[in-house]
Amino acid sequence: GGGGEDTASGGEAGSGKIVLGFSQVGSESGWRAANTKSVKDSAATAGIDLKFSDAQQKQENQIASIRSYIQQKVDVIAFSPVVVTGWDAVLKEAQAAKIPVILTDRAVDSDASLYATFIGSDFVKEGEEVGKWALEEFKSATGPVNIVQLEGTVGSAPAIDRKKGFEATIASNPNLKVIASQSGDFTRAKGKEVMQALLQANPKIDLLFAHNDDMGLGAIEAIKAAGLKPGTDIKIATIDAVKDGMTALAANEINFIAECSPLLGEQLMELTKKAAAGEPLEKRIVTKETTFTPQQAAEVLSTRQY
Ligand code: AHR
Repeated sequence: GGGGEDTASGGEAGSGKIVLGFSQVGSESGWRAANTKSVKDSAATAGIDLKFSDAQQKQENQIASIRSYIQQKVDVIAFSPVVVTGWDAVLKEAQAAKIPVILTDRAVDSDASLYATFIGSDFVKEGEEVGKWALEEFKSATGPVNIVQLEGTVGSAPAIDRKKGFEATIASNPNLKVIASQSGDFTRAKGKEVMQALLQANPKIDLLFAHNDDMGLGAIEAIKAAGLKPGTDIKIATIDAVKDGMTALAANEINFIAECSPLLGEQLMELTKKAAAGEPLEKRIVTKETTFTPQQAAEVLSTRQY
């Protein structure tokens, strides 16, 4: 701190605190709300001066706020990239300004030398977990198992990787077929809208794989509106395990959830302190997570924080 304008630890003049500029994806889901809360609460606890912006799921907004953080000479920049591509220029600008960048939650396809570290889940593994569950659930099927997939935001790391992990895993049983796959942008409203169309176009759907709880919850509304029973007439698997998802899982309206933890704040603040002090960071930090059946969801529901 101390307000030195051209030092790495300059930050806000006179505050003496480390200044972290954080660009969030948006407020598209329950997961995102929990992630934002975790970042804000952890910054306050760690005594870090947090500058927060919400990009509303638009890359151009994220690039603009990262540029503004560079101009303000924050100590560290962190962001959760909406999409994987298109970050080289702005990452080079941060590097030229000697401001370390921490990726949280989502990956970029830029060279790893352009950022300090990346903390977040293994999205491929999450897709594989759902795939393994589906193989087991439908192992005795003698005919085709029709699967529809609600994908996350087009071009985002979780949408790309969850699809990849899921589809590669179910490929071992030729009965399991993805008959339709469309983006629902990780939102409840889009999940409902797209599921409505999928139900109209496909008379027999056995399984819905939604890339997050929110799209699954939106789809449940569409399934009920079509006179079908979610979790029974159409099996449903999702990713995240936020409270609303876990509630539907415990009620057997969802059949399986692979967890994706949004609680990245505390670790992010530790990394921010190290980065501001110029300490070397591990390039990749993978979040620990688990999976839930309806019974497991019922057991942990009352103590679920988010
Ligand atoms: O990047 C994590 C994903 O983004 C979550 O799974 C989803 O709910 C959120 O919108």
